[in-house]
Amino acid sequence: MKVGFFDSGLGGLSVLKEAIENEGLSEDIYYLADTKNTPYGVKDERFVRDVIFNNIDYLVKIGCNPIVIACNTATSLCINELREKYTDIVFIGTEPAVKVAADSKQNKKILVLATSITVKREKLLNLIDNLHIKDKVELSSADKLVLFAENIDCQNMELEINNYIKSILMQYNLDEFSHIVLGCTHFPLLKDNFYKVIKEINPNLTIQVIDGAKGISNNLIVNINRLNGNKTYLKNTKKVTIILTSKNQDFIARTKQILDKEKIKFEYKLQ
Ligand code: DGL
Repeated sequence: MKVGFFDSGLGGLSVLKEAIENEGLSEDIYYLADTKNTPYGVKDERFVRDVIFNNIDYLVKIGCNPIVIACNTATSLCINELREKYTDIVFIGTEPAVKVAADSKQNKKILVLATSITVKREKLLNLIDNLHIKDKVELSSADKLVLFAENIDCQNMELEINNYIKSILMQYNLDEFSHIVLGCTHFPLLKDNFYKVIKEINPNLTIQVIDGAKGISNNLIVNINRLNGNKTYLKNTKKVTIILTSKNQDFIARTKQILDKEKIKFEYKLQ
C-alpha cells in the first residue's frame, strides 16, 4: 500500500513522525512537500487551492491511497472538494485539536494558533460553533512560525523564535487559559519553544500545548486497517520517499533532523 502525505513543506513531518514512531506506520510512504510554493497560509486562497489540486493529482497518479492532508491550511481550504473530485481515495484531514482541549472540561480558555487562511476559514469557525465553545476560544494567526520551522538554522534562532512567540502570547492573560492549540502542522516542530516561553512569562502557568498529530495518526491506522480488510497492522521497515516541487538541499537536511535517520530509509525526488 502506498500512503501519501501532503503539506506545503516540513510541517506534515510532525504528523508523519507521530505516525511512524508512536503508531507503527510502516507502509510505503510518499511525502509530497510543495517547496516551490510554501508558505501557503499568507497567499491568495485561489492560488493555493490550485497548487494543492496539482499536488494531490500527482499523489493520486502514483497510486497513493489513503492520502493524509497533513496541512491544516489545505484541509480548511479544500478537503471537501478533494473528496468530491477523488471519490476512490480516502483522505485523512487535519483539524486543530480544539475538541481535545474542549473535552478536558477545564473551565478556562483555549488559544488556537494557525495560519491566516486557517483562522479565516469557516471550517475552523464551524468546528468551534459546533462544540459550543465560541466564548472560550481565542484565535490568532502566527504565520512567521512556518518560516522559522522551515529554517535549517532554526536551532540557532531560539531567541528570535521565542520573542515572536512571546509577542503573540503576551497579548493574552495566560492565567485564563488551559490550552494552546497548535493549528498548523509546522508549529509542533517548535513546541519546546512554546513551553520555554510560557515558563519565562510565568513559571506557575499550567497551560498545555497540544496538536492534532496523535488523532490524525490514529485515524490513518484505522483507515489502513479498513482498506487492508481489517488485518492486524504489521510493523515493517520504514521507507519514506520525499517528493519536492523544487530543489532544496536545506529541506533534505531538515527532514533528517526531524525524522529518525537511523531507522528510516529515505529517498528523494523532484516532482
Ligand atoms: N503546515 C501547514 C498548515 O498546517 C501549512 C503552513 C503554510 O504553508 O503556511 O497549515
